[in-house]
Amino acid sequence: MKPYKMDNIKVLVVGGAGFIGSHMLKMLHKSGIHATCLDDLSTGYREAVRYGTLVEMDLAHAAAIEKFFAENSFDVVMHFASFIQVGESVLDPAKYYQNNFINTKNLLDAMIIHNVNNFIFSSTAAIYGDPQYTPINEIHPKHPVNPYGRSKWMVEQMLEDYDRAYGLKSITLRYFNAAGADPDGELAERHIPETHLIPIILRVAAGKSPHLQIFGSDYDTPDGTCIRDYVHVEDLCSAHLLAIEKLLSEKKSRQYNLGNGQGFSVKEVVEEAGRITKRPIAVLVSARRPGDVPVLVAEASLARTELNWHPQYSSLGDMVAHAWAANKKLS
Ligand code: UFG
Repeated sequence: MKPYKMDNIKVLVVGGAGFIGSHMLKMLHKSGIHATCLDDLSTGYREAVRYGTLVEMDLAHAAAIEKFFAENSFDVVMHFASFIQVGESVLDPAKYYQNNFINTKNLLDAMIIHNVNNFIFSSTAAIYGDPQYTPINEIHPKHPVNPYGRSKWMVEQMLEDYDRAYGLKSITLRYFNAAGADPDGELAERHIPETHLIPIILRVAAGKSPHLQIFGSDYDTPDGTCIRDYVHVEDLCSAHLLAIEKLLSEKKSRQYNLGNGQGFSVKEVVEEAGRITKRPIAVLVSARRPGDVPVLVAEASLARTELNWHPQYSSLGDMVAHAWAANKKLS
């Protein structure tokens, strides 16, 4: 028998007002798990926190975070709060090292003081840098090529040290391209500014934008556009739920890639979006975007075998259809 009951545990979701965190709060609620959301609402939305209690707090305030842990008890902390724009991280690295690294250190330090030893961390394929082979498995060399990827890799290394020194156990989930939306249409992806491919395509489909700029069609790929491994937000969240169980039962730190192992080119995504929305998607080929690599595809079999993760929405059509339906419902 398991030494704990999942519905008795208390989970803190840091960054629960953002895209993936808000979906996580809903999934935890549906699983009967009580969750508190901690968010400074700098990029998240109050109205996205539909499940669980929202506590507004900035992780930069170490003393306030420590006091929060002194007054509340948690079994597991999930950390979704980070800045995610690669281009911005090159122009303003301080913003990324402050939020993604230093603020995460504040969170971990408060956890250690108050004996909260289970941590689930949202990492990224950006830690690998330019792929030396594809698909990318977890042991692929880590040579991030921008401050965003470096800030995440620094946290991963800090987690290794904190485990060794303080016994903090963590499961790190390295997302490839998060996509889709709540299948009920209650939550959606919203970033300002929006830089991600599928939401931008859907804006064109909805008539809110004149065309999609395709950043480069001269890559060494079959149709010349970049290939990515899109993974549905619901599947990312289900991996987190399985990670809680694994962490609480085995108490071992682990790292897993989360992707479907199938790559789609920018042109293929545009075609699929045209098919799903039944709207024309005007495109304009422009210059390559600095920092883009031609192909990023995950080898994610470790998550399947060790976490027992079985993505439910691995078809690109489902991801686009859910994002389209949610956008229409919420706009
Ligand atoms: N793209 C376009 N036009 C656009 C937007 C994107 O052609 O208007 C292309 C990009 O050049 C890229 C692909 O669509 O080839 C996907 O781009 P996204 O911006 O949607 O996603 P990225 O692959 O750049 O980034 C994602 C995550 C990052 C993470 C990275 C891992 O969003 O947080 O994967 O390297 F760092």
